[in-house]
Amino acid sequence: MALLFVSAADDPDQWRTELRQRFPDLDVRIHPELGDPANIDVALVWLPPPGLLASLPNLKAILSLGAGVDAMLDDPTLPADLPLCRLVDPSLTRTMTEYVLLHTLKYHRMQDLFARDQRHARWQLRLPAPPRQTTVGILGLGVLGTDAARALAAHGFTVRGWSRSPKELEGVACFAGPDQLDAFLSACRILVCLLPLTRETEGILNRNLFRRLPPDARLIHVGRGAQLVEGDLLLALDGGELGGATVDVFTQEPLPADHPFWRHPAVDITPHAASYSDPSVGAEVVAENLRRFFERRPLLHVVDRARGY
Ligand code: NAP
Ligand code: GLV
Repeated sequence: MALLFVSAADDPDQWRTELRQRFPDLDVRIHPELGDPANIDVALVWLPPPGLLASLPNLKAILSLGAGVDAMLDDPTLPADLPLCRLVDPSLTRTMTEYVLLHTLKYHRMQDLFARDQRHARWQLRLPAPPRQTTVGILGLGVLGTDAARALAAHGFTVRGWSRSPKELEGVACFAGPDQLDAFLSACRILVCLLPLTRETEGILNRNLFRRLPPDARLIHVGRGAQLVEGDLLLALDGGELGGATVDVFTQEPLPADHPFWRHPAVDITPHAASYSDPSVGAEVVAENLRRFFERRPLLHVVDRARGY
């Protein structure tokens, strides 16, 4: 029984230590040191090289180290019959909510405008209206969107959310499906994207959508790069439809040095750093699925491959 750990973004030694505290006999192998691939039963992965999982002849389950599994589903060699579980981890959720709050407050308190004033040595008093007068809309009311929505509502913002299936969430106006997208967008002064990347959501953040927001709206994009038509964001910013954007995810990561986002005065960039897992917390979530795996019980958070998330 061996577990293969694959991730360039997580500390493998810390994860191995956390997993061994819970399963002292578990053989944890760190990619690229596979040992005998025939012994590997479970893979714990973030962005595994395409084809790697298909090369493990006795693999029985794939556990993602990320919430989004679009890159894995994009690999045509991904074994079709194995359960693929995404990460639902309180530390990932907490850090995402922190990020959404941070940047919502940045726009609410007009810190983006103060930063521009500072570049021109311009002293201009700007005082915000109470948060209830700012509607923040969240595309995606899943694990992350729901937590962010609750935190924003608790802070006093007027919050609305959009999902595929109808929802009820205290203090949050809920909209669902393509038919309610226009009504949802019409009041969002700050729009947060927390959707998974699927066939339906690819390119959803485009100029047509930006035009359906109130004038001078702000975008906080933390879903996946391919949801944003990057050229349309620049057109919307330069055309005055949007007043600013905070972008954490990109069609090409790392973002190339000559990409216009780097130098655009209304774009704030973070390097796919919005949320991250604390291994001492994440390992407990993974451990629960490993226990279920050992005991042949149903795994948690299995991705619906037909739906794409
Ligand atoms: P989740 O629990 O699966 O929630 C996804 C939400 O999106 C659900 O509410 C779902 O609606 C909604 N949705 C999906 N397709 C839709 C569509 N076509 N129309 C309307 N709503 C749709 O996922 P999560 O854990 O919250 O994570 C969301 C995404 O965040 C991940 O997939 C990943 O891409 C991104 N992420 C980014 C970072 C980062 O650091 N930037 C970190 C973690 C995650 P239903 O509820 O009706 O199914
Ligand atoms: C990060 O982007 C994740 O999907 O967890």
